[in-house]
Amino acid sequence: MLLLALETSCDETSAAIVEDGRDIRANVVLSQIDLHVKYGGVVPEIASRAHLDTITLVIREALETAGVSLADIDAVAVSHTPGLVGCLLIGVTAAKTLAWSLGVPLIGVDHLSGHIYAAAMCSDEPVFPAIALVVSGGHTSLFACRSATDRDLLGATIDDAAGEAFDKVAAILGLGYPGGPIVDRTATVGDPKAFDFPRSMLGPGSLDFSFSGLKTAVLYRVRGRGKRGITPLDVSDPQVVADVCASFQAAVVDVLTRKTLKAADQAGMDTILVCGGVAANSHLREAFERIGADGRFRVIFPEMKLCTDNAAMMAVAWEKWQRGESSGLDLPAVA
Ligand code: KG4
Ligand code: ZN
Repeated sequence: MLLLALETSCDETSAAIVEDGRDIRANVVLSQIDLHVKYGGVVPEIASRAHLDTITLVIREALETAGVSLADIDAVAVSHTPGLVGCLLIGVTAAKTLAWSLGVPLIGVDHLSGHIYAAAMCSDEPVFPAIALVVSGGHTSLFACRSATDRDLLGATIDDAAGEAFDKVAAILGLGYPGGPIVDRTATVGDPKAFDFPRSMLGPGSLDFSFSGLKTAVLYRVRGRGKRGITPLDVSDPQVVADVCASFQAAVVDVLTRKTLKAADQAGMDTILVCGGVAANSHLREAFERIGADGRFRVIFPEMKLCTDNAAMMAVAWEKWQRGESSGLDLPAVA
């Protein structure tokens, strides 16, 4: 089955051609970072207009890369929730138009299912049942998964997502946008023990997350708090910036790994999938690789290019196709 998949939920315009749910024949990802960088974050209206300008080109390039034509496509998949609604609408409308004009099924999929499926695509063996940690710019959630589309939510962030905290800490340090990859790189020469930033666990049994206190702790440490006798840090010193990045990252990774292990223990599952944009973080990958190495848990990551938003992971539609499920032309884009 040859699937054309689209992903436009945020600031990446992406189209992929995937055969039988696994074989990625093309995965074209056009990032809009250059358009948003001067605002320090994604501007929804600019993002949706940019999707509109480029979606046709991106689809054409995916078809060319895969060496197929529209007539070869058996189904069209699209992520229709969650995301920025104006952005989702572009992908959903393109997918509906193509599915209708080609006379093939339209399959709407949930963006988070796509992130989880990205890990399953990268494993030669069946991965489910599994605990999935989905950690991105918009989400930090733990799921007990029977498949990528059939799952129970065990916990989620009550405020900022982990990726959002990375982006905000980068902004506090004046490092630019998007912050995750920059903080990751900067932290490599920093001391993770230089600053003792808080690890918010929200009570002994909780599988929820909170990163806003950590972000505020970084802000106060960097800018100083006269009343408490905390002097501002010299952020013109690259070593100080590296130490803040490494210490912040250590706190995030500590909380993510501890909560994920707790979820696996509570659910009695021994496979852990680490998915979403923050799964590209080198320190997080090392920490989970160490957990995997001691043999108690099998830990699976998507390969790097499948961690951040891309259309190939929307081949999760294959699960639905096999169950005979498809969507109507009234498929909504849901924020
Ligand atoms: O999954 P994704 O592409 O989009 C959402 O669904 O949100 O994730 C984007 C997030 C951004 O916050 C970005 O800063 C973060 O993932 N990110 C990283 C790294 N690469 C991307 N965070 C930490 N370390 C990285 N290497
Ligand atoms: Zn995402």
